[in-house]
Amino acid sequence: MNALLLRIYDYINGILSPKRRRHTYGVEKAAIILAKNHYPDLDKELVAAAALLHDCTKELSAEEQLAAAEKHGALFTQLELDVPKLRHAVTGAAVARSMFGLPEEATNAILYHTTAKADMSPMEKILYLADFIDEYRNDELCKDVRQKYFTFFKAEKETAMDRTLLYALDRSIEILMEECKQIHPHTIEARNFLKENLADEDNKRRTEQ
Ligand SMILES: [Fe+2]
Ligand SMILES: [Fe+2]
Repeated sequence: MNALLLRIYDYINGILSPKRRRHTYGVEKAAIILAKNHYPDLDKELVAAAALLHDCTKELSAEEQLAAAEKHGALFTQLELDVPKLRHAVTGAAVARSMFGLPEEATNAILYHTTAKADMSPMEKILYLADFIDEYRNDELCKDVRQKYFTFFKAEKETAMDRTLLYALDRSIEILMEECKQIHPHTIEARNFLKENLADEDNKRRTEQ
């Protein structure tokens, strides 16, 4: 294993609770599987590094999040200040950059792992989905998304990632609305972008038949 990953393992083993570590390793495993299945040319060590650090600041208190943002040079938007759950993605990306020198490709995957965004890069898609399909997450939504991925993958490997991402975003938006919570504009944009792209793809196929 390379020196960077060893440093990251040491770091997260020292700061995360056993439960969060288990989730983190589950996300790392799922991210590597998704990379191999869909983007075999991606740098697997970078995928692993982003996965291992994606929740590295999740267990910080609200005050500690603010201190971490200042220390590692991160800025919160008003929405991130209003919705504390969103903050760990911002500080996690800043830690990955300032402590471990990860490039933007990986820090952006951490930055958007909670909200997603329109036109996601391969690493951004992988981390967003890996966070859902981690085998140790057993809430109904994650079990459902995991099952959907296997179904879509069996039916058609090429579109399985995007179809599962769209499904996960739709379900997440539904739940946020049912709970009367705020929805990040990036989440809506991510959903609409995927919806449009998949509709274009389906139309193209129909006209080719
Ligand atoms: Fe997270
Ligand atoms: Fe996570």
